[in-house]
Amino acid sequence: MDGNGRWAKKRGLPRIFGHKAGLGTVRKIVEACVKLKIEHLTLYAFSTENWIRPHSEVNGLMNLLKIYVRKELKDLQKNNVRLSAIGDISKLPSGARAELQKGINETSGNTGLGLNLALNYGSRQEIVRAFNLMAERGMRKIEESDISDFLYTAGMPDPDLLIRTSGELRISNFLLWQIAYSELYITPVLWPDFSEKHLIEAIAEYQRRDRRFGGAK
Ligand code: FPP
Repeated sequence: MDGNGRWAKKRGLPRIFGHKAGLGTVRKIVEACVKLKIEHLTLYAFSTENWIRPHSEVNGLMNLLKIYVRKELKDLQKNNVRLSAIGDISKLPSGARAELQKGINETSGNTGLGLNLALNYGSRQEIVRAFNLMAERGMRKIEESDISDFLYTAGMPDPDLLIRTSGELRISNFLLWQIAYSELYITPVLWPDFSEKHLIEAIAEYQRRDRRFGGAK
């Protein structure tokens, strides 16, 4: 969900206003995914590297997370959305963590869209954690499926489509193992301006791709 800072800067506003506008996009895109019957949506909301941002921005983001879960929980329930999180959420401030945990617990029986928030998430950290967990269990002959099973995303399918907003041409430590065969879609649109229409364009482009998973045409 890249481009919040630039969106705010273009308007002469502090960066947090961009994140607030970005939260509005989160609401709209979650609703669009429900409508389109998408099964899984993972949003990269806060990376393990984002802690180096100014305190005020980090606090602002954690506050937005709290507000989001508190305000949206009723609608998430109504829309049959199952909330989950990947990343080391034990390091989140207690207020945000408690609200998130409540949202996860209360929606755990829902069967519609799986809305997965990447929070204090870093893919390399996730892979190292997986190997440490396997080592603790004394596992020696490691298969691909073992690695998948020990990642935060265990039990979730690998993404079909990865959308990056704001035109940056990099992955930024996101789901490195899981996106081995994902289709990449990069749009110059800044996240606060990203709409249902843009999502549908991305899906239409995905549908035109020929996915061969390494096979011949
Ligand atoms: C990257 O844009 C965005 C973030 C680090 C935060 C994304 C968070 C939200 C959209 C709001 C909270 C979300 C939830 C799900 C509660 P950037 O700030 O790096 O933008 P820039 O590259 O233009 O500076």
